[in-house]
Amino acid sequence: MRSFLEKFPPSITALLLQVAAAALVLSAMRALELQLSPLSFALVCGLLAAFFSHLAGLARWWLLIQLCFAPALVLMLAFDIPPGIFLAAFLIMLVVYWSTFRTQVPLYLSSNKVWHALETLLPPQQAGKTFRFIDLGSGLGGVLTHLARIRPDGHYTGVESAPLPLLWSWLRCKPCRNCEVHWGSIWDERLEACNLAQYDVVFAYLSPVPMERLWRKARSEMRPGTVFISSTFAIPEQLAHQALEVDDLHHSTLLVWRM
Ligand SMILES: C[S@@+](CC[C@H](N)C(=O)[O-])C[C@H]1O[C@@H](n2cnc3c(N)ncnc32)[C@H](O)[C@@H]1O
Repeated sequence: MRSFLEKFPPSITALLLQVAAAALVLSAMRALELQLSPLSFALVCGLLAAFFSHLAGLARWWLLIQLCFAPALVLMLAFDIPPGIFLAAFLIMLVVYWSTFRTQVPLYLSSNKVWHALETLLPPQQAGKTFRFIDLGSGLGGVLTHLARIRPDGHYTGVESAPLPLLWSWLRCKPCRNCEVHWGSIWDERLEACNLAQYDVVFAYLSPVPMERLWRKARSEMRPGTVFISSTFAIPEQLAHQALEVDDLHHSTLLVWRM
């Protein structure tokens, strides 16, 4: 069972386990001819879903979500909130987070201090020479537009999969002649911008989940002498050549590999 569930992202596994818990509680109620109030039913479902999630090996913070999910649903229904509000909240989350349930890389932003630290990792300025920089998962385009302003001798590309951040960063990049963003997945081989061979500096601020895959992509595509930078998230078993600690709220660290 565990190996079957491992094929799915944690959010889908969590949902399947909620459904399984509800089905089991309903069958037990029918077999025992038992009546439960909606809140008691939800509490039992939550307990069972949390237990199943523990058995399925979901991270500990998922257990709390699983425990509270059905009771929270019942309590929210008691407030009689118009369904349109839930639809609107869902649509907003959808355009902001898009495929986060699958990629496990949500939107959170690099600090201004990270932007400034990145300036020091760009190739040195040389008359008549330009360089290319990519932000993989460029969010709202803050990294790109800041660097494009500070170092106009570079060309800056972003790839972003979520529609609202993409639109935001597109509007932000529009006035810059040396900055562009593309809509798509960083793994899409048909997207020319995702071929890392064309960049001198590749930057990523993602999550622990894609780092091993990203390292394989960087190793197979990046040219010798170019630079790969990961903000905060390490690559398993790959010691960085340089680690630049940034004194911001998240205590970000820029991990640098020279290819
Ligand atoms: C942690 S945010 C970083 C935003 C920005 N790079 C910064 O430093 O402020 C990660 C971004 O990557 C995007 N993302 C996640 N997986 C992606 C993928 N496979 N392809 C393109 N973008 C992705 C998310 O939508 C999110 O906006």
